[in-house]
Amino acid sequence: MPPSNSGPALNNRDYTASKVLEIERQAVFSSGWVSIGLESNVGPGSAHPVHVASVPLLITRTREGVLQVFHNVCRHRGLRLMSEPCEDLRELICPYHAWRYTLAGKLVGAPYSSGKKGTKLPEAEAESLGLVSIEHHVFFDVIFINLSGNAMDFEEWIAPLAKLWQPFDSRRLRLLSVSDYQLEANWKLVCENFLDNYHVPFVHGQAGGPETAVNFEDVALTPDIFGFILPQGEADKPKPPWLPRLDLGAEILDAQFLFCLFPNTLLIMTAGWFQAISVQPSRADFSMEFLGLYLMDTIPDQDKAAANEFSEFMNHINAQDAAILGELQSGRLSPIAEHGSLTPYWDETVQRFQERVRCAYDEAEKGSA
Ligand code: FES
Ligand SMILES: [Fe+2]
Repeated sequence: MPPSNSGPALNNRDYTASKVLEIERQAVFSSGWVSIGLESNVGPGSAHPVHVASVPLLITRTREGVLQVFHNVCRHRGLRLMSEPCEDLRELICPYHAWRYTLAGKLVGAPYSSGKKGTKLPEAEAESLGLVSIEHHVFFDVIFINLSGNAMDFEEWIAPLAKLWQPFDSRRLRLLSVSDYQLEANWKLVCENFLDNYHVPFVHGQAGGPETAVNFEDVALTPDIFGFILPQGEADKPKPPWLPRLDLGAEILDAQFLFCLFPNTLLIMTAGWFQAISVQPSRADFSMEFLGLYLMDTIPDQDKAAANEFSEFMNHINAQDAAILGELQSGRLSPIAEHGSLTPYWDETVQRFQERVRCAYDEAEKGSA
């Protein structure tokens, strides 16, 4: 679906109004495949609370290594079970009346629940009152869920990108760092900024000049998976000897692939590193983001300092974006921002994102009519 015109498809209110965010929680964040975490960031015996469309969820991994996603709600009185990430757990214990669940979600104790000493429940009751699980899928270490249960089959949804990235091996990924950001901007501006290749030479001069940025291909694999490819994005970057690089064909060896998986997942793939960003709206003008940076192999101890420097470099780039995002959001309080002018050369992917959002609004409106 090519962008239809050069004017913004969204207006100021779409970035500033709480009512619009409420619509998006249903029409976008409940209905789509939404990223919630990174598989290698959830160690054995840990539990990580997250929210999708304001709904509290819990990612757990048993000590045996099984990863699951649950509704983060105690089956007794509906209390949110966990409020902070916890490591080295054997069980999840509700802070209200001390019902106990395994990390696989089974209810294993409810002290004095019958009025008598003891924690055991009848087996059938224990079975039926386990934590409520949600199907999840993992793509290049990113965990996805669909809250509504009505999204298209995950494998089918991701297939075009899986095919394009077939030369890249997800088993080689090694998580180098995870960072959290609080961004004073609407979640859509975070995604649009990621898709805005035009700003890179001006905001992140250290990442490459205009001559690199100008050479890009706009790519729309599906209505939900789109972005751009810099065929020579890595060509002029130093290749430090410590950085393991995949042995790829010459046509993609120096390429950077930047994709938005609508709505909230932003991925960059290269032969030497991979970056995954997940954006979650908190308020209309405030978003949370986590950024996972990966190398393509385990590195020896003597290279760890250099790898940490690389991580700092990448996070510095993201911090530069954070500052710009605050200004983009502030601009949305001016009526003049309604009449921005997207450039045909650079802004096709931004326009595509906005039109995808507009399409979700239209569907929501039809559904409520
Ligand atoms: S609400 Fe969790 S044990 Fe009562
Ligand atoms: Fe940027």
